[in-house]
Amino acid sequence: SRTIKLAVIPGDGIGPEVVAEAVKVLAAVIARDDVTIDTSTFQLGAARFLETGDVLTETDLASIQQHDAILLGAVGGVPGDPRLKDANIERGLLLGLRFALDHYVNLRPCTIYPGVTSPLAIPGVVDFVVVREGTEGPYVGNGGAIRRGTPQEVANEVSVNTAYGVERVVRYAFEVAQGRERKRLTLVHKTNVLVFAGSLWQRIVNEVAAEYPQITVDYLHVDAATIFFVTNPSRFDVLVTDNLFGDILTDLAAAISGGIGLAASGNINPTGRFPSMFEPVHGSAPDIAGQQLADPTAAILSVALLLDHLGLTDAAARVNEAVADDLLRRSETAPLRRSTAEVGDAIVTLLTDKVLK
Ligand code: NAD
Ligand code: IPM
Ligand code: MN
Repeated sequence: SRTIKLAVIPGDGIGPEVVAEAVKVLAAVIARDDVTIDTSTFQLGAARFLETGDVLTETDLASIQQHDAILLGAVGGVPGDPRLKDANIERGLLLGLRFALDHYVNLRPCTIYPGVTSPLAIPGVVDFVVVREGTEGPYVGNGGAIRRGTPQEVANEVSVNTAYGVERVVRYAFEVAQGRERKRLTLVHKTNVLVFAGSLWQRIVNEVAAEYPQITVDYLHVDAATIFFVTNPSRFDVLVTDNLFGDILTDLAAAISGGIGLAASGNINPTGRFPSMFEPVHGSAPDIAGQQLADPTAAILSVALLLDHLGLTDAAARVNEAVADDLLRRSETAPLRRSTAEVGDAIVTLLTDKVLK
């Protein structure tokens, strides 16, 4: 029998609420497999910082690294909370983990499931995946400020793009495209303005494209890409893009696919040298936290990505099917609002019914 060591980081706000449901679903789906999940929970985030002053210690990191995978809810306090000003939980913890564990692929699928109401006028078939670079770009933190607090204040935020970093994520994106039916890959950047980074990305995409003659490659400026996300999202299959563009595009992708409560993601280290981390695209949603109002579907679909990553592809498919069933039922039943736990329970029931069938 196989044992999977899973690090769980519930985090802040709705994080613990949605993670509780994701863990429930995980337990239910592997119940019939010869797999044991050995879970350790790490209490990290804004609450922990306020209590202890720590964000992510060397000890936390060393211990998290001993696991096969990580499931994270969401981290971050109320934006603007003065007590968190010096902590910068998002950088220290979330980017801290992505950088330390070399999660250079941030995989964010976008599907409009049957029955789900999309705000798009003509939804059509939407099924694409954003391969967002996860360790470089403007997120690196290579910046600084001078003359702070004066009218001459200068604040620099340098975008770091290495040939090594761009090539490895581009290669990953081509492999993803190769495994899909339409075999289309779109580079999204802003090469007309960001000429140095832009030409590096474009050149590497062109070079790698030569090795993948079956794949149709095109390019969009990021501003134009946002138009097509709304007017013609069916045109997309695989997108590859920089860290910041990918962040923004994937909240938009979530919105068009029926809401941020449905969008899952994986922070992947494809080499397997470090554990990969799975989390909903959304944040800690302080506006609805603690009220059982959050949709746990994004966290549950993140479990499917996690299972897939660990090679448990049947279990991953069962989670996806149960979620698809639940989404279809939502559209067919009266729009009675369910609690976070009720959604989790419904998906567990659908999974269990499948097992019995
Ligand atoms: P957010 O994603 O937390 O919330 C945006 C809006 O979406 C809110 O109205 C919220 O109620 C709603 N929403 C989010 N998740 C939902 C769900 N599962 N079900 C229903 N509605 C949901 O973004 P924000 O308000 O910009 O950020 C809040 C905090 O979260 C900040 O501290 C931010 O830095 C942090 N954050 C963390 C992560 C992460 O941990 N991966 C991601 C994004 C933001
Ligand atoms: C996300 C979040 C993070 C990001 C923040 C909280 C650092 O918005 O996971 O999309 O920008 O990557
Ligand atoms: Mn984001």
